[in-house]
Amino acid sequence: PAAVIVAIDGPSGTGKSSTSKAVAAQLGLQYLDTGAQYRAITWWMLNNGIDVHDAEAVAAAADKPAIISGTDPRTPTITVDGADASGPIRTQQVTSAVSAVSAVPEVRARLTELQRTIARSAERGVVVEGRDIGTTVLPDADLKVFLTASAEARAARRSGELTGKEATDLAATREALVKRDAADSGRKTSPLAKAADADEVDTTELTLEQVVECVVTLVEKAA
Ligand code: C5P
Repeated sequence: PAAVIVAIDGPSGTGKSSTSKAVAAQLGLQYLDTGAQYRAITWWMLNNGIDVHDAEAVAAAADKPAIISGTDPRTPTITVDGADASGPIRTQQVTSAVSAVSAVPEVRARLTELQRTIARSAERGVVVEGRDIGTTVLPDADLKVFLTASAEARAARRSGELTGKEATDLAATREALVKRDAADSGRKTSPLAKAADADEVDTTELTLEQVVECVVTLVEKAA
């Protein structure tokens, strides 16, 4: 059978990553976390003294870091210039800077090309998660899923992933998340958006297992 390509988009905290990894593992597909790539470029910019709000400086450096994404859903890794960046890309500092970097067209052009190359070469098929996969990166995907959830549910899930003081401040988490989604949805170049032909799944009242089952069923129907 031909390799199946699954695009999973949606705002933060809807369960995109957990769902995408579980679906890929269950169906024996590869997995690509495009958010991790935007985070990796952002981490590199911060480490190299580039002002993330200076779009020209970000554009000029967009091609510099070497980024390699692992595609095993059980052990997703990402390296930047040969160093494992899987931990550092999840810090608050990177999270609050990433929307500015990902709005720069040169950054998007570079990563979109990289993502298409990885998806095309995935022999067993691939689950690709992000914000613009169904609309821009892989408009010919066999299945497009758009995950949503209430802002409350998203903030509660995100704060469950955080530790210590960050986790206790639910209101601040909610505010940061809503702000990041507004930036991602409002940017000019391939904003966060639901593709016209995507299946929308509201995960507010669903467990992870239920969302995974739902998406697996949709993949089996589409393949
Ligand atoms: O999914 P995650 O929260 O790790 O994504 C981090 C950020 O990367 C998003 O807030 C968004 O700014 C950017 N992103 C994007 N396009 C994608 C995936 C992520 O702009 N396809």
